[in-house]
Amino acid sequence: MERTEAVQAFENVFGAKAEDLFTAAGRINVIGEHVDYCGGKVFPAALNLRCNVYGRKTGGNSIRMAFRGIDGIVEIETDKLDSYKGLKIGNYQAGVAYFLQKEGVEIVGCDLYYDCTVPFGSGLSSSAAIEVATAVTLCEYAGVEYDKVHLALVSQRAENEYAGVNCGIMDQFASAMGKKDHAVLLDCSTLEYEYVPLQLGEYCLVVANCNKPHNLVESKYNVRRQEVETALKAIQTVLPVKCLAEVTPKQFAEVRYLLSGVVEKRAEHVVMECARVHSAVEALKAGDLVELGRLLNESHYSLRDLYEVTGKELDALSAFARKENACLGSRMIGAGFGGCTISIVKKTEVEGFVRRVGKAYFDAIGYKASFYETSIEDGVTVEKL
Ligand code: GLA
Repeated sequence: MERTEAVQAFENVFGAKAEDLFTAAGRINVIGEHVDYCGGKVFPAALNLRCNVYGRKTGGNSIRMAFRGIDGIVEIETDKLDSYKGLKIGNYQAGVAYFLQKEGVEIVGCDLYYDCTVPFGSGLSSSAAIEVATAVTLCEYAGVEYDKVHLALVSQRAENEYAGVNCGIMDQFASAMGKKDHAVLLDCSTLEYEYVPLQLGEYCLVVANCNKPHNLVESKYNVRRQEVETALKAIQTVLPVKCLAEVTPKQFAEVRYLLSGVVEKRAEHVVMECARVHSAVEALKAGDLVELGRLLNESHYSLRDLYEVTGKELDALSAFARKENACLGSRMIGAGFGGCTISIVKKTEVEGFVRRVGKAYFDAIGYKASFYETSIEDGVTVEKL
């Protein structure tokens, strides 16, 4: 949706002009999947697909929200913020407002129009984008000082404790802290981070959505978290580690006898994926894109065989991508069970790649994949209209 259209839509719904635009980004993750909640390093980047919030401070005691493509208004009262957990639309926003208020931020009434261009349920973190965009909006309207890492943390808390999804910090951090043309190497146990230029030369990243219908992702995700916690507890009986990411591949080989079944497989994924992040960042910095592509493939195989979060759709989409000469590597990103893949593809071959992979996917799965034109952008933005 164009900005002028969104501004007009705001005026139609609220009868006044929007004054500000706050945005936060959806994200991809180059590598480091299902390791953020194990204290590992992740390597996400913020996208041009974003949650745009057009706003106007009203100063009353309610937040009125409207959404592109959805009729009507959702209204939440600032003195009842603990009571909106059941909202189908607006619960992320209420959760963010609730936790900001708990921290002492005065939640000021406002009218907000949400134009979220991050596709929902795509593994590109629409929920984080909504949360972070809401957090920056409410902090700006409260007139408080804030830092963007804090916006990420309060957003994660809303997702964990209000929306009930036990996610790690990666998505919200990337959404708030992303930087144009860079990926963020984030250590999830310390929140130390480094920006690394995402320079792919003749290549680019193609983001593709397998369009599998959303199905119980949150509950399956929470089960994975329990499994790795079980693994950590067992390993801690012999190794003094705080998190699974601290276990080196060599140590893992020595302690894996303590584990069995799915718990052993899940832990192996985490340990090896953490090692791959390190190698991938080295490869990128050295300009070795072939090696980077190989590591992306390895990551996918591990998510398929050990972590078991891919499914036939993501496996097919990434496998068809890998068959292409112009593609150096491909993998699922995000929580999995549906959602998106990224592939490293030669820029001059993207059109043919999209056409052939799209057709092969349709023939195999029976419905279409979507391919997005993406670029790597800043995380949060704030603008007067
Ligand atoms: C989801 C979660 C993140 C992370 C990824 C998997 O996107 O929100 O915290 O765990 O899955 O890497």
